[in-house]
Amino acid sequence: MRSERLFEIAKRLIPGGVNSPVRAFDPYPFFVDETEGSKIRDVDGNEYIDYCLGYGPLILGHNPPPVFDAVRRELEKGLQSGIPSNAEIELAKKIVSHVPCAEMVRFTNSGTEATMNAIRLARAYTGREKVLMFDGAYHGGHDHVLFDSKGAKSPGLPETLLDSTLVAPFNDLEATKELIDGEDLAAIIVEPVMGNAGCIPPREGFLNGLREICNDVDAVLIFDEVITGFRLSMGGAQEFFGVKPDLVTLGKIIGGGFPIGAFAGRENILREVKPEGEVFHAGTFSGHPVIMSAGLATLESLESENVLEEASEFAEKLFDFLRKKLDYSVNQAGPMFQIFFTRDEVESAEEVRESNGEKYKSFHRGLMNEGVFLPPAKFECCFTSGAHSPEDLSLTKKAIERIANEVE
Ligand SMILES: Cc1ncc(COP(=O)(O)O)c(C=O)c1O
Repeated sequence: MRSERLFEIAKRLIPGGVNSPVRAFDPYPFFVDETEGSKIRDVDGNEYIDYCLGYGPLILGHNPPPVFDAVRRELEKGLQSGIPSNAEIELAKKIVSHVPCAEMVRFTNSGTEATMNAIRLARAYTGREKVLMFDGAYHGGHDHVLFDSKGAKSPGLPETLLDSTLVAPFNDLEATKELIDGEDLAAIIVEPVMGNAGCIPPREGFLNGLREICNDVDAVLIFDEVITGFRLSMGGAQEFFGVKPDLVTLGKIIGGGFPIGAFAGRENILREVKPEGEVFHAGTFSGHPVIMSAGLATLESLESENVLEEASEFAEKLFDFLRKKLDYSVNQAGPMFQIFFTRDEVESAEEVRESNGEKYKSFHRGLMNEGVFLPPAKFECCFTSGAHSPEDLSLTKKAIERIANEVE
């Protein structure tokens, strides 16, 4: 097997053989050769229907022609200059026109940088330090958000940061209120649908409740829409659920398959960013014209085609099928879904932890052998795209039927 051999070589050169931990799974991950539409082909010639989709950016599927064309046109003008270009304005305009809270936007190179800068901005704007996040959320790999209900998620985090981050259970307004009581709260940061604890939609009234809490204590409400932005709707989760935050962080889809992030929001807050204000943010590659053009072409395709509706309908059909066929808990929100091997409803990260991980692994491996690729961990979210066809749906259902007895 070429993948197995490549993994052995990779392990000698790269810690764990991968450049992001979730990519490693037992006994070894397959190595990709080519991708197209809804499919991945590995170096051993196996083909998979892909529900991982690069962990979220590929809402149009792999290699959409409009994005390729836009990138080629931009590349002909040059790679990168570090000097402002019109491409940045065009993508900023598109974001501002769709995302309800976005009056101004600043581009970064990753979602991690987007949340890091949004949090810094919220702290500077309010002159306070405490930030509340939710157990099970992932806001990127920087030191200010690597926490869960048990504390720091990694060695190497300064002890002092533990004092400035509060962690509440998702979907629990009462616990959230208790935690912030008497605290000098700068911000609440929340994934409106938790896509890093599988897929957990907010309970009715939860996001509104967070909005009210922030209003009451004059704190900044940040929606981390790195996953939900331009996925749940063109205006993201804030449009989908009708709750407007003060700041939003974006990434994944807005880069059309290239590294990107952005923080956006109310003009009076964004104007605090350098060079207009004093809050630091900079980046050699921020606003990279090739990436801007890929993002713009992606958003234009989403505007002109029914991608989000079709991808959501596809996910809903799969959701219905999984629930009937396997009798386990399944969550879905638009083109996002995940199955949890528990018979209880899953509304918090703790409930995901309690679900059967070994069964998820068997399910993942079983489907891979049948030509269907899901993210390898129960804490990740499955995605559908505009490239998934009715044939993909029926092949996926058949694959699930063939392996159903392995996870009963
Ligand atoms: C909700 C959320 N925020 C932030 C990030 C970090 O983005 P990036 O991997 O581009 O740094 C991710 C990545 O998966 C994410 O899902």
